[in-house]
Amino acid sequence: MEKLVITGNTKLEGEVSITGAKNSSIAILPATLLCKGKCTLYNVPNIVDVRLSCEILEKLGSKIIWTSNNSLIIDNTNIHSTHAPLDLTRKFRASYYIIGAMLGRSHEIEVGLPGGCNLGPRPIDQHIKGFESLGAVANLSQGKVKVSADKLIGSNIYMDVVSVGATINVLIASVFAEGTTIIDNAAKEPHVVDVANFLNSLGADIRGAGTDLIKVNGVKELKDNITYSIVPDQIETGTFMLAAVASKGDILIKNCIPEHLDCLTSKIIEIGGNVESYKDTIHVWNTRRPKKTVIKTLPYPGFPTDLQPHMGVVLSMAKGTSIINESIWDSRFQYTAELNKMGANITAQGKSAIFEGVENLYGAPVYATDLRAGAALVIAGIVANGTTEVFNLKHIDRGYENIEGKFANLGAKIKRIIE
Ligand code: EPU
Repeated sequence: MEKLVITGNTKLEGEVSITGAKNSSIAILPATLLCKGKCTLYNVPNIVDVRLSCEILEKLGSKIIWTSNNSLIIDNTNIHSTHAPLDLTRKFRASYYIIGAMLGRSHEIEVGLPGGCNLGPRPIDQHIKGFESLGAVANLSQGKVKVSADKLIGSNIYMDVVSVGATINVLIASVFAEGTTIIDNAAKEPHVVDVANFLNSLGADIRGAGTDLIKVNGVKELKDNITYSIVPDQIETGTFMLAAVASKGDILIKNCIPEHLDCLTSKIIEIGGNVESYKDTIHVWNTRRPKKTVIKTLPYPGFPTDLQPHMGVVLSMAKGTSIINESIWDSRFQYTAELNKMGANITAQGKSAIFEGVENLYGAPVYATDLRAGAALVIAGIVANGTTEVFNLKHIDRGYENIEGKFANLGAKIKRIIE
């Protein structure tokens, strides 16, 4: 068993460099299947979800060579299978991108129903609706999804909910569809734009990514031998911004895109923290106990659900009573029970939670209930009095590269122990 042992009461100070985005990489890797040759990807985070993506692609016939810790060459010349191994695809959520990519490439695919963090129901009806609009037939049974098409034809697709996954998946599937595909009520997250930029660099014709109307003019083939650098991770950036606020620290966050964090920047300033943004760097510092606030998570450019638990840590120590409304996931407050073990006073019910701010947290053994909850508990451990042990690191390792090393460089007393 592995755990992080953290001795708290630390002000985080120094510089940290942000890795490439998890949620871009795990979409762009499958999207490379549309290219029948080689792609070189830089700034790829070396995390469990990316390695799993690579394993699934290798089972389909991709040849992948890591040329450094964060770059790889993927050669999709010889894809020989349309069956993604069910034991692997069930392990994480983004395996659903294999469907869009293989539908585009081979008009046929079978995968296990995607797994991932337990944040409540995670339907894929909008993905399926999109594929069917393009002319595919989908069959979901016995934990498997089979999707096939004689040919794909561009169509107008209105997404009933704003879904990052469905927007990206249908975008990937429609690259070779005959004519024009319109995705309306599309998600606008930076990773949606990154996938579109990647596909355009291969010769796709995608316009409007980053707005709620995306237009894809079908092309017949894509180039190969391209190189592409994954966008910096918005959520990792926000994690260190909130760690600076929670610890009353001073952090210079490098290799990030400040505009992707505009919403968080405003909230940090509202609760009394300080943020200065430069071209690809954000400086965050805080000297005071944060003020109370009200937050509602929303699709981009709203407050990201994936930073809600980290903000929860900050608000658990704010002056006064704060409220968070979670509008994306049904079960994203599981971390509050863990924070309460550390002395927080949070009442969570359904998709809302009330944070009665306390002056200090204290160390306790806590369990990462999902990926972002895990990172939030690490921040809580760094600021709490005493020693915190964070268990269930498999969640954290899915999405953060070397989290303990990055926090240790900022002064945290944090060690990974393997028992
Ligand atoms: N939804 C549907 N039908 C669908 C798809 C989604 O009803 O077909 C609903 C979901 O139940 C949810 C909402 O739409 O209520 C938004 O879901 P979305 O599809 O946007 O989420 P996702 O693509 O499954 C991605 C990230 C999540 C992040 C959400 C929201 C990946 C692999 N995951 O999930 O990231 O929380 O978008 O921004 O990109 C994380 O990184 O920790 C994480 C959970």
